[in-house]
Amino acid sequence: MIVVTGATGNVGRPLVQGLAAAGEQVTAVSRRPAEAPEGVRHRQADLAEPESLRTVLNGADALFLLVSGAGGHVNPQAILDVAKAGGVRRIVLQSSQAAGTRPESDSHSPLRELEGAIQQSGLDWTILRPGGFASNAFAWAETVRSQRTVTAPFGDVALPTVDPADIAEVAVAALRDGGHAGRTYELTGPASITSRQRAQAIGEALGTPVRFIEQSREEARAQMLQFMPEPVADGTLSILGEPSAAEQRVSPDVERILGRSPRTFAEWAVRNVAAFR
Ligand SMILES: NC(=O)c1ccc[n+]([C@@H]2O[C@H](COP(=O)([O-])OP(=O)(O)OC[C@H]3O[C@@H](n4cnc5c(N)ncnc54)[C@H](OP(=O)(O)O)[C@@H]3O)[C@@H](O)[C@H]2O)c1
Repeated sequence: MIVVTGATGNVGRPLVQGLAAAGEQVTAVSRRPAEAPEGVRHRQADLAEPESLRTVLNGADALFLLVSGAGGHVNPQAILDVAKAGGVRRIVLQSSQAAGTRPESDSHSPLRELEGAIQQSGLDWTILRPGGFASNAFAWAETVRSQRTVTAPFGDVALPTVDPADIAEVAVAALRDGGHAGRTYELTGPASITSRQRAQAIGEALGTPVRFIEQSREEARAQMLQFMPEPVADGTLSILGEPSAAEQRVSPDVERILGRSPRTFAEWAVRNVAAFR
């Protein structure tokens, strides 16, 4: 049995579907009640309260671990202890590219701590380090729907955003095949794309132009501070505004693992166009 945490999110949802379609027995976990695809059981548990995972993980062979946000709310060792007690032998962690590219940043220290704990756990581990998600564009949905505009900072800085469906497919492979043990994969899209170009791609999916309005760093920061802690907002702005060469590079890992190119942002926009109508 494979336990998927973060099961109702951008990555977890396609991951649960992919595992179920491959014939795996899956337990989907999130805090709130949720519908699960046919044949999948859903269980409520809170990663911030590892004891709530005990019955969920009992009898599991593998765990997909996704902590939401920056991950500061979890105790890695307590989660690993409960996982091992339940029988888990393989763990796939969704981390972040920045855990590798920003080794000094406060914003990603909880994910680095999680990576370290998993590497020392004695379990078969695989670490996924995705770059920025295509699905971050859902933050634009409301103004695209109401005004056909996108307001964002750093309009001409390009990053190879990754489609969460590709992260999920890589996770399916890593959870089912022991050949990925001990590996850390960097996951990006097939090409760097600016936020101005992403807004344009959403417009093309809609069949109507979407106007891009560039925000100042200060305006973007004030907005982000409404829903994320200061170090996370500053760390994110630094990646969006001044990405390192490593953060702008297209990684070969999705193609190596899946045997095809990563999905483009335009494909993501077409698949998710309903959110922007
Ligand atoms: N967005 C990016 O550009 C980016 C880039 C690199 C890495 N990441 C990492 O990717 C992760 C986010 O992935 P995502 O976008 O797929 O997530 P998401 O769409 O935000 O969904 C979060 C999922 O986790 C569940 N959840 C949240 N808090 C929980 C808790 N305390 N206990 C149990 N379940 C909990 C949520 O359901 P409930 O709310 O019902 O519990 C939901 O299923 C974060 O770790 C982030 O650091 C993101």
